[in-house]
Amino acid sequence: MAENRLIAVTGDKGGVGKSTIVSLLAEWLLHEKQSVKVVDADPNQTTKTWIDKCAGFGRQISHDKGSITIVDTSGTSGSSLTQYIRKADLILVPFKPHVADLEVVMGWFLSLKEAIQERVLFIPNMVSKTKEQKTGIEELEKIVREEGRGQLLPGISERKAVYPSLLNGSATNFFDGKLDENTRKETEKLFTEILEALKG
Ligand SMILES: Nc1ncnc2c1ncn2[C@@H]1O[C@H](COP(=O)(O)OP(=O)(O)OP(=O)(O)O)[C@@H](O)[C@H]1O
Ligand SMILES: [Mg+2]
Repeated sequence: MAENRLIAVTGDKGGVGKSTIVSLLAEWLLHEKQSVKVVDADPNQTTKTWIDKCAGFGRQISHDKGSITIVDTSGTSGSSLTQYIRKADLILVPFKPHVADLEVVMGWFLSLKEAIQERVLFIPNMVSKTKEQKTGIEELEKIVREEGRGQLLPGISERKAVYPSLLNGSATNFFDGKLDENTRKETEKLFTEILEALKG
């Protein structure tokens, strides 16, 4: 894989799982023996705190010379846009598939330049397979299809007993720990597609 790839994780909505996806992806890449650099450009510093906690457990997450850089950015405009989103090889946009939240996400996507839209990968997060969520995901799928740019990736389920504890930091890599089969399957599916997209 080419060196120095940049993955930006972003979105206009708060609390949709940006930091969770950043840390899960970092753990996945480390597990796959890739070196990563993780940058927290979000003022709330959730990802930085996670990195510090892992360091406290004796585990280094981020390496300055990592071949894949993952950036946690808040918001989708302003300095995040100019510094990271425009330059990113992939732009990951986690979203909660609620119709109201999606209005914001779709509006943002439609306002982007085509060259940026091409690099957007949407990740449904906290999926619980309700009818409302299915409708939301279908609507987004339709926009992506109509634009002919961007991609809708497989989702991550809502698992309160699994994902929230990740951000507490740990001495062991998430994927080396005890993991239920469904969690392993859904994360593996998602990250395999992201790595495929990164290869281009
Ligand atoms: N798939 C999931 N299942 C259960 N809980 C989740 C899932 N994804 C994220 N969460 C939880 O939801 C909360 C918000 O997630 P996270 O902090 O990753 O979102 P964020 O978009 O980075 O938020 P912020 O806008 O505050 O930076 C956290 O408590 C996290 O543990
Ligand atoms: Mg965050």
